[in-house]
Amino acid sequence: MEVVITSSPEATGALVGAAIARLVTERAEAVLGLATGSSPLPVYDYLLTRSTEGLDLSQVLVFTLDEYLGLPADHPETYRSFIRRAFTDPAGVPESRLRTPDSEAADIDHMCRDFEQQITAAGGIDLQILGIGRDGHIGFNEPISSLASRTRLKTLTDQTRADNARFFGGDPAAVPRHVVTQGIGTILEARHCILIASGEQKAEGIAAAVEGPVSAAVPASALQLHGHVTVVLDEAAASRLTRRDYYRDTYANKPDWQEI
Ligand code: GLP
Repeated sequence: MEVVITSSPEATGALVGAAIARLVTERAEAVLGLATGSSPLPVYDYLLTRSTEGLDLSQVLVFTLDEYLGLPADHPETYRSFIRRAFTDPAGVPESRLRTPDSEAADIDHMCRDFEQQITAAGGIDLQILGIGRDGHIGFNEPISSLASRTRLKTLTDQTRADNARFFGGDPAAVPRHVVTQGIGTILEARHCILIASGEQKAEGIAAAVEGPVSAAVPASALQLHGHVTVVLDEAAASRLTRRDYYRDTYANKPDWQEI
């Protein structure tokens, strides 16, 4: 695991966005796993700026991590609507190259299997962007999710519904209780995972995920089992890490030829 502590959201956006831009420049049809939430927004903003300067993002294939169940497809807070607004529409990615779990699926198990098959058929995800919930969740894999789990239905905790109420007029009861999320086993198959976190409210989850034991109680800790993970944090999110000076040192002295 590589831990990078940045000085601003713009620096995070440029660091992670440049990694995506390199990938897309090498292979226009790169398979990207994108996350919703506020944490990755600086990355999407950076890429959109690069696209106005000539970076062609229109051929990437995008998979999202998760989706609320029971919202109409055109609801502004489905994660499909979110990622279209934040990235794929302004980046010129056609809808046919955006794959998200179906919020209105009648047969949820079938839809989950189909979503997994689409990832496999695409040759797997090249680069997966992740945020982290306050309780250490990735995607919507709440604590005690199996570390081998695949895409499936999950029930949100009260804390996650309260955290996400800001998108639903401040009312936790308006946040759907049920969701579909890529499993932890699914996420671990991406070739490179980049976890982004900012703010003091993420510090405890980040410390547990990065320096604590691998445990289903902290789903993000499963990333310790992955061979290529980059954790990009602001100072506040890094504040509970006991080895943060070492991470800073390591990154400051990283050989020029090594990229994240
Ligand atoms: C939701 C999403 C996660 C995201 C998390 C954190 O729970 N399902 O994928 O990582 O929110 O969001 P934010 O980055 O806004 O703090």
